[in-house]
Amino acid sequence: MVGTGEQTTGGQAAGNRDGDGSSGELRRLLDVSRLRHTAELAALRRQLLDAQKAASLGELLGTTAHEFNNALTTILNYARMGLRHRDQPTRDKALERILSAGTRAAKIAASILNMSRPGSSRFEPTNLELLLEDVLVLLERELMKYRVQVEREFGPVPRVSANPSQLQQVLINLLVNGRQAMSGGGRLILRLSQDESLGVVDLLVRDTGCGMTQDVMRRMFDPHYSTKSGPDATGKGGSGLGLTACREIIEGHRGRIRVESAPGKGTAITIRLPAIKPAA
Ligand SMILES: Nc1ncnc2c1ncn2[C@@H]1O[C@H](COP(=O)(O)OP(=O)(O)OP(=O)(O)O)[C@@H](O)[C@H]1O
Ligand SMILES: [Mg+2]
Repeated sequence: MVGTGEQTTGGQAAGNRDGDGSSGELRRLLDVSRLRHTAELAALRRQLLDAQKAASLGELLGTTAHEFNNALTTILNYARMGLRHRDQPTRDKALERILSAGTRAAKIAASILNMSRPGSSRFEPTNLELLLEDVLVLLERELMKYRVQVEREFGPVPRVSANPSQLQQVLINLLVNGRQAMSGGGRLILRLSQDESLGVVDLLVRDTGCGMTQDVMRRMFDPHYSTKSGPDATGKGGSGLGLTACREIIEGHRGRIRVESAPGKGTAITIRLPAIKPAA
């Protein structure tokens, strides 16, 4: 791919100017003020993440409530059919359909509850494959509707120390961006791999969509930068905060985001996270 770019972690350490000969008292006041600003900045960053997450959840609720309704309709129809027909094969079939619709509704509820779970600063050993499947439950129908085919290439990888709800937020943003880049449908490749020597896990989200110019790539992580005219039919996109939140979250996980893209060819985004070392 041509036109590749890379974003890496790196804290914005507050400037550390030396004293200019002013009194110790002045320096102390400056230090206090700097600390206060750093704390305020950290609070604002957290607010940004929370707001972006609330927006994502809100957007997903529309689709998932609809799917819930579909599952309920299936359950009700097959329950009626089972009551009407006394023969065993028809009843067995009805019960199987009820079980599968009920299971799907339960999965959707569990994924939404997981994502909205409070205590969002908790890190825990996290299985990325399960996390991806959780997110796919929420987006499956939407991807199908837009004729996006999901390809899973999940190699065995160790767990990572992560905040699952925040990583779900990242994945939803990346998957929705990929889907939106493929207005005429396409392929979304999800790959999990590891580099044992570096002790890292790579999670790749690749689409076969419109790709990005160098200019878009330079600005894609900027707050409020968006090339979309507004939310699409599913209510998603256009705020320009999705990738800002992704970067913020991945930096908080001591990870890196790498982007490769070429106009007309598609985009590959790799999230690299430190693996949890197996117990000695
Ligand atoms: N997979 C992709 N393919 C092509 N362009 C992309 C892709 N992902 C991001 N972009 C570009 O980067 C811009 C910023 O993405 P970002 O997710 O931050 O905002 P958004 O999708 O426009 O809005 P929202 O914050 O609601 O998600 C997008 O508007 C788009 O131009
Ligand atoms: Mg987006």
